[in-house]
Amino acid sequence: MFKEGNCISPSMKRDLISMLDVKNDLEEIIDLGIKLKKKSKNGESIELLEGETLGMIFEKSSTRTRVSFEVGMTKLGGHAIFLSTNDIQLGRGETIEDTALVLSRYVDIIMYRAKSNEAMKELAKHATVPVISGLDNKEHPCQVITDLMTIKEHKGTLKGLNLVYMGDGKNNMAHSYLLGCGIAGINVKIVSPKQYWPDEYYVEEAKRFGVNVEITDKVEGSTKDADIITTDTWISMGDEIEKEKRIKEFQGYTIDGELMAQAKSDAVFLHCLPAYYGYEVTKEVAHGKQSVIFDEAENRMWAQIAIMVTLSG
Ligand code: CP
Ligand code: NVA
Repeated sequence: MFKEGNCISPSMKRDLISMLDVKNDLEEIIDLGIKLKKKSKNGESIELLEGETLGMIFEKSSTRTRVSFEVGMTKLGGHAIFLSTNDIQLGRGETIEDTALVLSRYVDIIMYRAKSNEAMKELAKHATVPVISGLDNKEHPCQVITDLMTIKEHKGTLKGLNLVYMGDGKNNMAHSYLLGCGIAGINVKIVSPKQYWPDEYYVEEAKRFGVNVEITDKVEGSTKDADIITTDTWISMGDEIEKEKRIKEFQGYTIDGELMAQAKSDAVFLHCLPAYYGYEVTKEVAHGKQSVIFDEAENRMWAQIAIMVTLSG
């Protein structure tokens, strides 16, 4: 069975903790998400994981990830358990290794929203069932698979499009966009103050797929020729202590009507949400006619349904 990316498991079960884990079948997963969404909306059953259980460990807050995974698993005929680290023994010092080994005896898939990529890799290393990242400090693969599915629904294709991401270029969304765009054949531009440019690793990996990758701090003219404009919060979970400093440093990096108007006339706006209006984007743009943010939020569920089905084999 397939096993690539940054986690090697002794049992060769398949995890999703980096976009590189889906580099061989990203579009198949996206197409499966689109197909199962249509089927379910037509009233047909999609109970492909009947009787299976998803354990969901959360070390950070969530609205979309929690609800979309739980409802998605219900639609698949299975069941999901919400495990906050405030309530489970992991939060009181039980090791990640023991947590992974124990949960693997009960559940069929583990979803983990982790504070660190190291913790994510540790859990995936010891779990004997598939581990899906619900975000860590380095990547947010489920969100970027969802975003690519949303782009494909709206544009009909992925290859050759131009995506501009403005804001915090060093966060989980920027990193997963670099890899996801590379895999999907989308040219990607990150517009960010220099101190927030992405980790070099993600830039180099994206370039290996042959797409144009540009990292710039110049906002003016940056959205010209864009098919997709996107952003994320300037203050990710864990960065709260730097809030005031970041707000100053990101001044001028707000996506507004003027930047949207400079893009292609049929450009779409995406945001993984939660959004902070007046900072990374104006409410006028986020709730405007080019915005697809609520389709994107809904698609978390359909993309994750496809991911769970694929990883379950
Ligand atoms: N986009 C996203 O992951 O949202 P939540 O933090 O609400 O799960
Ligand atoms: N970059 C954000 C994404 C939230 C879904 C964070 O990590 O908080």
